[in-house]
Amino acid sequence: MPAQPDVNPPLSTPRLRLEPQVAAHAPVMVAALADPRSYLYIPGKPPSDTEALRRRFAHQESRRSPDGANLWLNWIVYSGQTALGTVQATVQLAERTAAVAYVFGPEAWGQGYASEAMRAMLTFLHAGLGVEKFVAHLDTRNAASRRLVERLGFVQTDLILGADRFKGSVSDEYVYSLSAAVFSASSPTPPLDFPPAGL
Ligand SMILES: CC(C)(COP(=O)(O)OP(=O)(O)OC[C@H]1O[C@@H](n2cnc3c(N)ncnc32)[C@H](O)[C@@H]1OP(=O)(O)O)[C@@H](O)C(=O)NCCC(=O)NCCS
Repeated sequence: MPAQPDVNPPLSTPRLRLEPQVAAHAPVMVAALADPRSYLYIPGKPPSDTEALRRRFAHQESRRSPDGANLWLNWIVYSGQTALGTVQATVQLAERTAAVAYVFGPEAWGQGYASEAMRAMLTFLHAGLGVEKFVAHLDTRNAASRRLVERLGFVQTDLILGADRFKGSVSDEYVYSLSAAVFSASSPTPPLDFPPAGL
């Protein structure tokens, strides 16, 4: 039987190490995401119950939705020994599309770490898994997130008014998308090291 390809391998960039998320990362992520500013424009609040987070991470270690249609991919982003945040992708295998997300602690903001980690993940999703399109949903008030996706080459394709409701207000959402071919053409020498996966 052929070996199952590693769909969530370790990745690295010049400054960062992206570790595949496992249950043992729960304590470092409780610390990395403790600041409520990280959750201003997304539902939820900082994880404070390490055991609950450990269970959630353990569940996500399957890397697949129960029906097998989607891959759940999560990386913990490290600079040296410090966990800075997370980058995530839900890959719809039939559509070859990945919905991407990212959350970093405020100490990591403004230094290009999120862009660098996202570039590594997008490069892997395309080159390693054959993803052809990336999609991001973001709250219209989230200027930092908007700048990030635009710097990566995403373009706004939709606006969903009243997409969600959290923290006492309505969340309107921009939908941004990016063709993986366009992304890889604009990043000819990816700052990335990963073992080939192939599905
Ligand atoms: C969205 C989020 C990840 C963006 O983080 P960020 O730090 O603004 O993004 P980057 O890592 O790309 O860094 C951006 C800045 O670092 C600078 N930068 C880029 N490369 C750099 C480098 N090598 N050295 C130093 N600075 C650098 C850039 O100039 C950029 O600033 P600019 O946009 O004013 O030009 C962060 O705000 C966050 O975690 N927010 C909370 C969670 C959230 O809302 N997630 C999104 C849900 S949709």
